[in-house]
Formats: sequence, C-alpha cells, structure tokens
Amino acid sequence: MIYTLTMNPAVDRTVTVSRFEAWATNRVQDVTIEGRGKGINVSLALKEFGLESLAFAPIGGAEGEIIREALQQAGIEHNLYQLQSGSTRVNIKIYDKETQITTEVNEPGPHLSADDCKAISDMVLDALRPGDILVCAGSLPPGVPDDFYAYVIRLAKQKDVFCVLDASGEPFRRGLAAGPHMAKPNRSEAEAWFGQSLSTKTALMDCLDDFINLGLSLAIISLGKDGAVFRRAGEGIVWAAAASCDARSTVGCGDVMLAASISAVVQGKPLVDLARFATGAATAAAEQPGTAVPDSDAVEALLDRVNVEIRQEE
Ligand SMILES: Nc1ncnc2c1ncn2[C@@H]1O[C@H](COP(=O)(O)OP(=O)(O)OP(=O)(O)O)[C@@H](O)[C@H]1O
Ligand SMILES: [Mg+2]
Repeated sequence: MIYTLTMNPAVDRTVTVSRFEAWATNRVQDVTIEGRGKGINVSLALKEFGLESLAFAPIGGAEGEIIREALQQAGIEHNLYQLQSGSTRVNIKIYDKETQITTEVNEPGPHLSADDCKAISDMVLDALRPGDILVCAGSLPPGVPDDFYAYVIRLAKQKDVFCVLDASGEPFRRGLAAGPHMAKPNRSEAEAWFGQSLSTKTALMDCLDDFINLGLSLAIISLGKDGAVFRRAGEGIVWAAAASCDARSTVGCGDVMLAASISAVVQGKPLVDLARFATGAATAAAEQPGTAVPDSDAVEALLDRVNVEIRQEE
C-alpha cells in the first residue's frame, strides 16, 4: 500500500480578479475552493497514474471538512485525525487575469499539541507493513517539532517501509538524516540543504552525490522550467529537460513529478524511463490551471518531447 502523510493540509481558495491592485478594493469574478496539501496532491496524481493510496492528515473545523470531502470525491481512501481545537488553514490565491500572475497569502496552519503529534505518528506507524511506501510531504504546522518526519521515517524504516520525503528547511534536513529512500527537493530546497548555489551541473552532481552518500537510493532535484536531474544509486545520472510548454500554473508540478516517479519505481522502470515519465507528467501539470493533475493521455502526448541525457555511473 502507498500512504501519504500531509501534516499541514490547506483549503486553497483561488479568487480571480480582472486586475489585482494593492491598496484598492478588488472585485472577485470567480472563486474556486479545493481541499489540498502536498501529500494529498501526491495521492490525487497517483490515482491518475492508476495507483491507489491512503491519505493521512490532521484536520480541524469546517475547513477540515472540505479536505475530507475532496478526498471522498476523488475516491481516495483516507484516515484523518480530528483536531480538538483550531481549523485547517485557508490559503488564498489571487489570480490576476490580465497579467496571469498569482499572489499567494498562506496561513501557518493550526497549532498541534505533543499529544496530537504522538497520536498521528501512532496512527501512521500502526498502519505500515513491510513493503509499503510512505510519502511524507509538505510543511509542518505550528507545534510540530522539526524532527517529526525524521521520527516517523526512522520507525517506518524499521518496518521495512520505502520512505519518500518532500519537505524543506529544517524538517527536510532532519528528515534526510533519518535516511529515507527517496527525496525530491526543488532547486532552492536542495540549495538550502547543500549550503551553496546549484547553478552549475557540477554543483548539482555534487549535491546528488551527497544525497546518495547519505543513503538515498533515488534523489531528484527539480529545476522548474529547466527540468530535473535524477540520480539512482548504482545507475548513474539522467538529466531531463522539461519540454517547453505554455505554463499556466506551476503550483503542484513538483507533487505530480513525485507521484510519477513513485509510480515508475513501483513499475520497476529503468532510471531513464522514470525520468522521462516524471518530467513529462510534471510538464503536463504545468500546462493545466491550478493544482489540477494531468490525465494520462496528456502525459503520454508529452513523453516524446522530453529530452533526456544519460550519464552512466563510472
Ligand atoms: N514553467 C515550466 N515549464 C515546464 N515545466 C515545468 C515548469 N515549471 C515546472 N515544470 C516541471 O515541473 C517539475 C517540478 O517543478 P518545480 O521544480 O517547480 O517543483 P516544486 O517547486 O517542488 O513544485 P511544487 O512544490 O509547487 O509542486 C519540473 O522539474 C518541471 O519538469
Ligand atoms: Mg515541491
């Protein structure tokens, strides 16, 4: 079974205005409300790639029910931890139709107590069986210690679970030290971890080497419109250039890339095919508005346009 853990889900409230102006009254033309979160996005994308998963998340208040409904509607199995106080956050995205620029206003999320954290980690760890996959994704809300992912990963590994980490800052650093099997930072997340700029191929390769030396079997650094670089222990490096596309929204592209990579791992695809599929899926996601997940036909149509360059391991 594949499990996704989203500690800080969010209700994305996207409001469309004709031209956004600060210090002025902006009239909203259209509102969309979506129950989202990093792990939930991964679950949605996995479903599109034909893989079932179960989503874990804490929820609170009326906003939390939007998360539950979104999962129910998508037909994704879920086990949600009900917070006694506080509400799931709302992230407001203001989409300016004229400039096509989105301004985001993100809340930190509700405060979780030590008891909440213990109950959630117990809920996740109790479910895990050898051979399962656990995806820990996204930011941690207030009250959750930076080593939360590290704790869960360490115990999940003892149960022979394949652990995937997609986070940033300190939770990413601490989580990586616990030795997950796979991680997909974007360039700035990897730079913060590596402590230097990753603007050259040499620096990117050095950073990937460090990830592998840390014990990861698959490390991916996504580079936005420049594509991504993939490194699997014992299999060399694959550079994938994103097929140029008319990007409409790049929010959640990394989550689609992560889900596509996991599905390729499950299917036992060689690294070059994994890289092509993951990059094609992420590019197709960039062509969709909002955090919409591309369907498999859209991904299929893109695969030939993804250029990959392979560097075998010496
Ligand atoms: N403008 C773009 N044009 C084409 N492809 C893109 C573009 N932006 C992103 N992608 C694709 O999506 C992948 C992931 O994007 P990015 O590096 O921005 O991830 P991310 O910052 O983790 O995203 P998020 O966390 O919002 O999901 C890239 O490797 C690339 O394949
Ligand atoms: Mg990301």
